[in-house]
Amino acid sequence: MIDKTAIKSLVAELTLEEKAGLTSGKDCWLTKAVERLNIPAARTSDGPHGLRADDYSRPDHATMPAVCFPTAVTTASSFDREMLYDLGQELGKECQAYGVNVLLGPGINMKRSPLCGRNFEYFSEDPYLAGQLGEAFVKGVQSQGVGTSLKHYFANNQETNRFTSSSEIDERTIREIYLSAFENVVKKAQPWTIMASYNKINGTYSTANRKYIDEVLRKEWGFEGLVMSDWGATHDRVGAVLAGTDLTMPAEDTDGLIVEAVKNGSLPEEALDLCCERVLELAFKAAEGRKEGAVCDLEAAHLLAEKFAANSIVLLKNESGLLPLKKTDKVAFIGAFADKPRVQGGGSSHIRETKVTGALEAAKNDGIEVIYAEAYDRETGETTDELFTEAVKAAKKAEKVVLFIGLPDSMEYEGGDRPHMSLPLSHDLLVREICAVNPNVAVVLHNGSPVEMPWIDQPKAVIEAYLGGQAIGAAVKDIIFGDVNPSGRLAESFPKHLEANPSYLYYLGEGDRVTYNEGVFIGYRYYEAKKQEALFPFGWGLSYTRFEYTNLKLDKTEMTDSDSLTVSVDVKNVGDVVGKEVVQLYVAPERVKIIRPIRELKGFDKISLEPGEKKTVTFVLSKRAFAYWDIDIHDWAVETGSFGIEICRNSHEVILRGDVKIKGKE
Ligand code: BGC
Repeated sequence: MIDKTAIKSLVAELTLEEKAGLTSGKDCWLTKAVERLNIPAARTSDGPHGLRADDYSRPDHATMPAVCFPTAVTTASSFDREMLYDLGQELGKECQAYGVNVLLGPGINMKRSPLCGRNFEYFSEDPYLAGQLGEAFVKGVQSQGVGTSLKHYFANNQETNRFTSSSEIDERTIREIYLSAFENVVKKAQPWTIMASYNKINGTYSTANRKYIDEVLRKEWGFEGLVMSDWGATHDRVGAVLAGTDLTMPAEDTDGLIVEAVKNGSLPEEALDLCCERVLELAFKAAEGRKEGAVCDLEAAHLLAEKFAANSIVLLKNESGLLPLKKTDKVAFIGAFADKPRVQGGGSSHIRETKVTGALEAAKNDGIEVIYAEAYDRETGETTDELFTEAVKAAKKAEKVVLFIGLPDSMEYEGGDRPHMSLPLSHDLLVREICAVNPNVAVVLHNGSPVEMPWIDQPKAVIEAYLGGQAIGAAVKDIIFGDVNPSGRLAESFPKHLEANPSYLYYLGEGDRVTYNEGVFIGYRYYEAKKQEALFPFGWGLSYTRFEYTNLKLDKTEMTDSDSLTVSVDVKNVGDVVGKEVVQLYVAPERVKIIRPIRELKGFDKISLEPGEKKTVTFVLSKRAFAYWDIDIHDWAVETGSFGIEICRNSHEVILRGDVKIKGKE
């Protein structure tokens, strides 16, 4: 690795024009090389649930086909750090094979509203979960000598007016909710780069926000990498350099502004030098990590995509043990998504899949015979009298029905937010009519964010398959017929209706001012505090087996805020089939002075258990698990008081509880 002193000497050899040039891209994806000094270019590429890499060997730079893995909303439901690491590792290998140095992702923004058009690209409404999964993903990618770009830093929670809106957020909410996941990934995984978002934060564009880039990210958290703008997010080239946004992407015709500012003294050359040093560090790191001639196995990756999807699918409802179906049952698959599922969302993350496996094809490949009816147009979601009648007929013929519905592409994409939380009307009607003629209906949902289910009492079973990547159909088949026991848990709450969501009154704001009035009470933090029962709470997910929890132990009942607490609990599979359980630990602070959520996720672990098998799961909690952001001291603090340690089935259902008294701030 070329060392810092050598980098500094190289920067000293650059002309002012070359320095200015290095702080913007060469084209859409590359940084600039400086050939006379042997400074290489680094190549970025979108994803991050696959590669959206341009083919530079073709004049039209067409996107190369790649394996489309499950999107972030899906993989987050795995609650499985190891899986996220493996996914990252595979993507890192594919980056090597495609000649990519930096994968633009993961996206770890919080899901403030179910309406955000990019929710499918983000992990969760919970900063702890998003931070843990983001850390694993980044470590996986970077283990392959390839970098990541953690995005979108930060408070980019809507698509409407994304280039002009200002997220107006109080200091405590910023720290506890909107920065926490970034902080964890930066401190634990050191992503090579971070992408500054389009929006403003309290009136200042993210790319020019010195406080959050220089003071918080670099000085406070120790970030060592490069900050790049989101594509077109720099509004002030000089301001960006001053704030520490090292690289403006993509190519821009504005380098002259930097030259001029240095000449007229409004931009100190040392600030520009610092940005250049970081661009050079990235370029040399990229070159050093490069494995020329690397290849990847796309067939094997497709199977991996199936495995990841099957580990993430969430079984929402399963009455009278309808699922799993028997492979010999007389089954109808109804809905165009059974044939061609919706596997990903629209926008910059859109992958050109190598192939897509639908559940229909997967069933056939497995020798399972099913009746099929299209029921609606896949692209528009609309039905016709003919399609509808055929669907009802197919449902009458079958013993059991699997009804595939969801949101069409036109309803969920980057650059726009959904106007409502409903499914297409025809899909709601299909559920009602099909359930009226057949008592054994399982609904499979394909959507990137929660939808309202006014019909929830009717079908016996509901599977949330999300936007599960190109092998989702095979994974759905695995779950429906019991080849895989479902083990996904919701990484977001499903409110009963949109108006119940805490951001509902303020989402999209007034003009460009978007005030986050709900404060720290986003997602389940709100539903629990307000005793507003969600349709399905955060952390929810069923299994084909049952797990019994016993023997909760805390290694102390009193401590100070500098001690750590070890918690253990026994979990046993008391059903008949092997299964995976997500053990969830929440901390429930007593209300003293500070207004806090009822409980917050502070630990989770996914374990696999054979029938009759028991395992002990252990968590270690330190200060941060009990802390709030104190606006008087501008730091984390623990209030003296009592804290519940709750082992929960989900954010709403407590299984076991212990208590610890902590001496902290009076
Ligand atoms: C998106 C980023 C993406 C970039 C490059 C932007 O519009 O917000 O997430 O990485 O484009 O395609």
